[in-house]
Amino acid sequence: MKKLFIQTYGCQMNLADSEEMAAHLAARGFELTELLEEADLALVNTCTVRDHAEHRALSLLGRLRRWKREKSGRRIIFAGCAAQRLGEKLKKTFPYLDLISGAKDIDSFSTLLDKSGLFPSVPGAGNNAAQPGVSGYVTIMRGCDFACSYCIVPSVRGPVHCLPSADILKRAAQKAAEGYPEIVLLGQTVNAWREEGKTFADLLNEVSALPGVERVRFVSPHPAFITPEFLAAVEHNPKIARHIHLPVQSGSSKVLKEMKRGYTRELFLEKVDALKARGFAVSTDIIVGFPTETLQDFEETLSLVERAGFSAAYCFKYSPRAGTPAAQMKLWDEKTLEERLDILLNRVRGLAEAAYQRQVGKPVQILMETPDKGRTSDNFWAQTKKSYTIGTMVQSQAQSAQGTLLLTRD
Ligand code: SAH
Ligand code: SF4
Ligand code: F3S
Repeated sequence: MKKLFIQTYGCQMNLADSEEMAAHLAARGFELTELLEEADLALVNTCTVRDHAEHRALSLLGRLRRWKREKSGRRIIFAGCAAQRLGEKLKKTFPYLDLISGAKDIDSFSTLLDKSGLFPSVPGAGNNAAQPGVSGYVTIMRGCDFACSYCIVPSVRGPVHCLPSADILKRAAQKAAEGYPEIVLLGQTVNAWREEGKTFADLLNEVSALPGVERVRFVSPHPAFITPEFLAAVEHNPKIARHIHLPVQSGSSKVLKEMKRGYTRELFLEKVDALKARGFAVSTDIIVGFPTETLQDFEETLSLVERAGFSAAYCFKYSPRAGTPAAQMKLWDEKTLEERLDILLNRVRGLAEAAYQRQVGKPVQILMETPDKGRTSDNFWAQTKKSYTIGTMVQSQAQSAQGTLLLTRD
């Protein structure tokens, strides 16, 4: 059996794509290894959302030159969003690449493998199903129809394409039957999913009703589709996790307009309030140093963070991406970016701990990921007194919080 080493960068969609590519390679006789030294094939699945992410993938590719020389017959596949952006240009700098498969090629990956002639099918070959864990990922849509002025995703992933609900339900049922009690639905703007006669909320409710499904999560939703109708359709279904990751990007309505996010600070806060009123914890993504972000705009981000009471926030320095409208604008200097990021990170650090403190005394429903630790429905880490089988749901109460860990009464 030949061995396959996979390095995945970027978001959960990329992780799910890596799983899919691994399955096609399994049919060609490749089994997974965690050790690059024993691998015959290295699959690098890349991200290009910020320059730093792309740089990491390219520097690994640089290191793989030697790895490939060390043993004859070794192969390299370069896949994902950076592969989509750079395409055949990569062959100039990295002539030793065997196959380039951009993010948009994911549905034709198997055909690409066949066409290359390098990876013949092996009759009766096994599969590369990961060891059953707690969360089973199911991609429900690909691409993005928004056009945020800083973002390269629509250009590397293409327009929205929703998978049919029949396929999604089949896949989710299969994951549940394999032993994943939590199903995570994935898409770049996951809640943009729709089908004739069916809403995203309908889909969530249907997935949650499948045998063996204990909990349903979804990433990443866009605020535009968090509507009163959506909330009404999900709020009474306890299997839908009480946590939502809702990227805000900026707290200034002026900057949000220039980012083309399609909402104001006030509208976003209304949505957060509506979610919190129904028991949802809200986390977010924030970009600092967008070209038109003045000090006053940045202060509005700081005040929004306090006001929204996020349970977590991922903060990024603005990174210009070639071909996006914002890339034409004048950049802030690195020192300003660093300073703003530092200030924001300091504010955010306290937020998570405060959110954990607010949970103390509340009932918690923990899905165990280790014998004594797991995640609550609202996505807080919790430690139990007793030991449980991984994957079981434990009902208890949060007795205290230590930093970002809840301790339960169980
Ligand atoms: N589709 C998701 C986000 C996908 S990209 C959404 O719209 O919510 C993940 C995160 O990367 C974004 O939320 C944003 O905070 C960040 N990001 C995207 N482009 C960026 C850029 N050019 N510079 C810095 N951060 C960026
Ligand atoms: Fe990028 Fe905006 Fe689409 Fe998210 S919604 S992927 S930030 S363009
Ligand atoms: Fe990165 Fe592509 Fe995901 S650019 S964030 S891996 S969609």
